[in-house]
Amino acid sequence: MGIVQKTAIITGAGNGIGAGIAVKLAQNGANVVVNDRNEADALKVASDINAAGGKALAIKADIMRWDEVKGMVDETLRSFGTVDLLVNNAGALRDNSILKMPEKDFDLVVGTCLKGSWLCCKAVLGYMRAQQFGRIVNISSRAWLGNPGQSSYSAAKAGIVGLTYALALEFARHGVTVNIVAPGFIEAPMARRLPPETQEKVINAQPIKRPGRVQDIANAVLYFCDEETSYVTGQILYVDGGRHVV
Ligand SMILES: NC(=O)c1ccc[n+]([C@@H]2O[C@H](COP(=O)([O-])OP(=O)(O)OC[C@H]3O[C@@H](n4cnc5c(N)ncnc54)[C@H](O)[C@@H]3O)[C@@H](O)[C@H]2O)c1
Repeated sequence: MGIVQKTAIITGAGNGIGAGIAVKLAQNGANVVVNDRNEADALKVASDINAAGGKALAIKADIMRWDEVKGMVDETLRSFGTVDLLVNNAGALRDNSILKMPEKDFDLVVGTCLKGSWLCCKAVLGYMRAQQFGRIVNISSRAWLGNPGQSSYSAAKAGIVGLTYALALEFARHGVTVNIVAPGFIEAPMARRLPPETQEKVINAQPIKRPGRVQDIANAVLYFCDEETSYVTGQILYVDGGRHVV
């Protein structure tokens, strides 16, 4: 049970939360594919995992491109023989008032967060259905409930909720669960790129007044990936210091 000898693909795992998830899944016995479009970052995370006794492979792929996503899954199957777990973590953020937001920023944010997740799901689900087992964890955000200045990001992360619910329904009878981890403010590059006054405001608005840790997200992902977590699908687990209740 657990995730021993399962094979996991984690997108955007060259940095921040994705890297923490890759390390956590490897520590728990999974073979991990460290995906990122930045090859140097992916190689560094994979080599750290291998040096610590884990089993990791770096694969450079842009998750917004079907040919590259397909190539990543084919390479995973060639190297590890299976794909059991998918964590759709790669994301992009371009905050601004909708009145000032260029269309290209909307395309980038929705393309990365939503289309990228959809393409990765599409690429693995045939195998998961054939083996009658799979765990997909989509990283949404507390922000899917709406934040001023985040029309593209909130829309993209809300789209992930719809995607998750639809796939949870479609693949439940094939042993595949599809769930969401929705982080709040986490000590990771995306949140730390916000202006300092915004960071302070966000943390003060939380019931638990401190940033979350990458570990907090990795633990939540591990729960959904476990073979024993077979009766939980279409679930949203907020890891946000209670912010979604406020
Ligand atoms: N940091 C937070 O506080 C926070 C809060 C809520 C949700 N999230 C979500 O968690 C996830 C990770 O956040 P993070 O702070 O670690 O971000 P990050 O910016 O540190 O990491 C994102 C990684 O994704 C990679 N990436 C981007 N586009 C890609 C593409 N098209 N193909 C492949 N890789 C790509 C980047 O190169 C980067 O390594 C994101 O989905 C983000 O929206 C983060």
